[in-house]
Amino acid sequence: MESPFKADIVKGKVALITGGGSGIGFEISKQFGKHGASIAIMGRRKSVLDSAVSTLQSLGIKAVGFEGDVRKQEEAKRVVESTFKHFGRLDILVNAAAGNFLVSAEDLSPNGFRTVMDIDSVGTFTMCHEALKYLKKGGPGRSSSGGGSILNISATLHYTSAWYQIHVSAAKAAVDGITRNLALEWGTDYDIRVNGIAPGPIGDTPGMSKLAPDEINNKAREYMPLYKLGEKWDIAMAALYLVSDAGKYVNGTTLIVDGGLWLSRPRHLPKEAINQLSRVMEKRSRDKPVGVPTSKL
Ligand code: COA
Repeated sequence: MESPFKADIVKGKVALITGGGSGIGFEISKQFGKHGASIAIMGRRKSVLDSAVSTLQSLGIKAVGFEGDVRKQEEAKRVVESTFKHFGRLDILVNAAAGNFLVSAEDLSPNGFRTVMDIDSVGTFTMCHEALKYLKKGGPGRSSSGGGSILNISATLHYTSAWYQIHVSAAKAAVDGITRNLALEWGTDYDIRVNGIAPGPIGDTPGMSKLAPDEINNKAREYMPLYKLGEKWDIAMAALYLVSDAGKYVNGTTLIVDGGLWLSRPRHLPKEAINQLSRVMEKRSRDKPVGVPTSKL
């Protein structure tokens, strides 16, 4: 789909996007690039990074990939510094890296809980912490310009509750807290705007295929106010609005981009359907098959 924004809306800016090699993170990378930004993407898998960077470059976008895990502070620091060294400035940090899997609270080990908290919440804070020096007003490479901008990708599932997502709900609630608190502290002290996006179900993403297969997606459409899944494009356009001057008076908000889904009922999927997708329950059902009647999907 064609963008409604001018092609130079983020021209001259440098954006670092964690998890930028695939899914929503990649679409944000692509759209920021198509609107004039230079792009650094961070991810754990070299092959994913390489392929994303070459796709971006084939579109005429200045792009570079840096391997790293947001759970490791020294890697976060190295990637932020490498981005600055490569492009000479850093204007936008997007925290899109996330971990997810379906498991009941009963079957989730504390280490499994911690793993998602580490990626989503601690990882987001760590990246913000390491990027502060470059994003703050008057920081390296930006002496004459104002502060930069941070965008945290969140979710809506923690607004109420969701089956088998206690770790993700806790992690995304923490991300929203980080967004608000940094918006206050760093907006006041350093002229940095910090916002978030809470995507609803977005088609053609790793999260969607992992957490909700087609038959569930189709059922969900029946009670969604706009009767459709979102596209990665929808999230990227919201991201462009928030990080560009169009959003210059927006700070500390998490923009829900879900077609109004979270307002509708039922907002969660039937427990039996989720059971089928959980690794633990799959294993258990091999010993004692449970079966899900199609009428319950
Ligand atoms: N069900 C239950 N527990 C799980 C699990 C699952 N599907 N996947 C991981 N865990 C638990 C492990 O059992 C382990 O806990 P334990 O030591 O008590 O057994 C803990 O989480 C760490 O697992 P490990 O495999 O070592 O973690 P990892 O760092 O290699 O990878 C993820 C964990 C979440 C990053 C991995 O599942 C992943 O790569 N996900 C893809 C990212 C994704 O889903 N993106 C879309 C976001 S919407």
